[in-house]
Amino acid sequence: MYPLFLSLLLTGVTALPPRPIFTLPSPPSSPLSWFESLAARPSGLLLATRGDAPEIWQLDPLTRTGALLVSVAGAFNLTGIAEIPPPPGGEKETYIFASSHIPAPMEVTPGSAKVWKLVLPSAGPGKAEVTLLAALPQAGIYVLDVETAEVTTLMEGVEGVNGVRVDLAGGWVYWANHAGRTLNRVRVKEGGGGLVAWGAREVVMEGQTVDDFAVDVGRGRAYVAAMFENEAVEVGLGGRGGGGWRRRM
Ligand SMILES: *[C@@H]1O[C@H](CO)[C@@H](O)[C@H](O)[C@H]1NC(C)=O
Repeated sequence: MYPLFLSLLLTGVTALPPRPIFTLPSPPSSPLSWFESLAARPSGLLLATRGDAPEIWQLDPLTRTGALLVSVAGAFNLTGIAEIPPPPGGEKETYIFASSHIPAPMEVTPGSAKVWKLVLPSAGPGKAEVTLLAALPQAGIYVLDVETAEVTTLMEGVEGVNGVRVDLAGGWVYWANHAGRTLNRVRVKEGGGGLVAWGAREVVMEGQTVDDFAVDVGRGRAYVAAMFENEAVEVGLGGRGGGGWRRRM
């Protein structure tokens, strides 16, 4: 029963044609508008960061509508967004999002990244509050304590970072480098002052355009969004020093 049900389910899923739920108003004012990242609210509404403007939009997948939620003074282009556990009380939701100065596609001004906190009422009307948590000094991978806003450096001199995933149990930090077209990882462990990187940096995929990615630790795979090919690429994380295998999906 179960495998049959599963295969029916999968067939059903793959048979669903993808359809847009919302498109930003474009010409003539902003012909190159784009969303960079999404976070799903517990209510099912989506928060979407704009890459061409310092704005977060709220989208409703059911009604297929969207509206500007917050404009971020002091930011140029918004990048990633993620939910973090809410403050005690349960009446608020907290999100962390980032911004950079991206004057033209793929051109990020070095040292322009900032990290912000967004607090929203869980339901009903109320104001969205935006606070600047940290400005990051240069290209690298940092650990940010979202309570104290304290920043520690995990790795400096890492260029083109476009997505980071942490596997704390396995002791790895993975990152995508869109400039070098690689997926990489390094060993991490808890040190005196927090997380520290150790050992050689490993390349687990190379020669493949990459935007962001997800890691399935249990199955030892990464799923990479190919930057230009409109494909998802499955990458084996097995091999030390890179390689593994790759499958286009
Ligand atoms: C970055 O944001 C500014 C407005 O803050 C916009 O003029 C520019 O086109 C954006 N960059 C990209 C690549 O969309």
